[in-house]
Amino acid sequence: MAFGALKSFGIKDLSELWPGVDVCLMSSGTSALACAIGQLLAELPSEYPRRVALPAYGCPSLVAAALWCGATPVYYDLAEDFSPVDDGVVRVLADECAVAVHVDAFGAAVGPADHPRLIRDLAQSFAMYAPGWQPSGCLTVVSTGRAKPMSLLRGGAVLSRTTTVHPKLAAEEVVSRSEFALRAGLYALTQRAAVLGVVSSIPRLAPTATGFSPLADVRRMPPQWSGVFSAGVVAAREQFSRWRDETNDMLMLAMESGACVPQIIDPGCNQLPLWRIPVLCPSIGAAAALAADGWHLGVSRLYGRTLPGIMGFHQDTVARRWPGASDIAQRLVTLPTHGRLSARQRRQLGQLLSQWCRSGRRSAVSA
Ligand SMILES: Cc1ncc(COP(=O)(O)O)c(C=O)c1O
Repeated sequence: MAFGALKSFGIKDLSELWPGVDVCLMSSGTSALACAIGQLLAELPSEYPRRVALPAYGCPSLVAAALWCGATPVYYDLAEDFSPVDDGVVRVLADECAVAVHVDAFGAAVGPADHPRLIRDLAQSFAMYAPGWQPSGCLTVVSTGRAKPMSLLRGGAVLSRTTTVHPKLAAEEVVSRSEFALRAGLYALTQRAAVLGVVSSIPRLAPTATGFSPLADVRRMPPQWSGVFSAGVVAAREQFSRWRDETNDMLMLAMESGACVPQIIDPGCNQLPLWRIPVLCPSIGAAAALAADGWHLGVSRLYGRTLPGIMGFHQDTVARRWPGASDIAQRLVTLPTHGRLSARQRRQLGQLLSQWCRSGRRSAVSA
């Protein structure tokens, strides 16, 4: 892939990737989200409140993007399968606030219907690498940052079928030709299970950091970046079926070990590769123990706290206002996917899951 990316620097026409889709490349997924939020807010009457609805369990980058646009984040609660509680997104769009962001949890599509003020955040999803995929919703955000399904170690994009993205706020990033080459090479390397495994076990690089850091700058990537991006998308498409099979293998391991995997992630419902497999442990103690015993196998608590909790809301307030997200934050552990584990490590993981998750057992669904 690295060679392909080098050859195609500056010449790849992104409209070939997704016909009829406007693609705006940004310096990160967070920048892409800020750009998308900014665009939708700018279309609203000025007297409308600047509020953005976010899932109450998710990445602090969501808040950073909303704040960068001068908006107030409000949070909607999530059910056990990560879908918005009681059509929460639709309600907040109608009654409370201007713009909503919906995140496809771990790759599984759990979203509400299309809405002109809904942004679909696919930072953690493989959806766009499925053959024939087209974005739904008004604006779709993707990330190619570190530890993402397709990682170029930086970058993101805003995609739309219905509108052209004009990031007026965003100046162009300066990226040298040698940096493109380095990124393409690193991407090729991180696609190897042995390297990916090591990289994602380094705490500084892992996606488990929950600290909030404000978004400093929002920039577009220069046109030459499209070569790296499109080569990455093409390479990811080629791996799509393998990733999906590996996901389903890991799903079966989790289910056979008695772990409670949210229904939406079942192979029967979700035909996508998943970024990680979410498992709901029977108790807070079991989640902590499983994560402590299995960190070297890539088991992670992910954010560990709700988004309002990370942003400083008091624990009692969080538990009262966002009970579903609080429950997820306390009981969730996630398992790695995509060929990371050897047969011996898979056995170890199976034993740990049986030990800590058995009371959450339910029947396995065949792929
Ligand atoms: C759902 C979601 N959106 C946006 C982002 C931000 O992407 P990036 O790390 O490329 O800035 C993340 C980061 O993990 C994320 O999980």
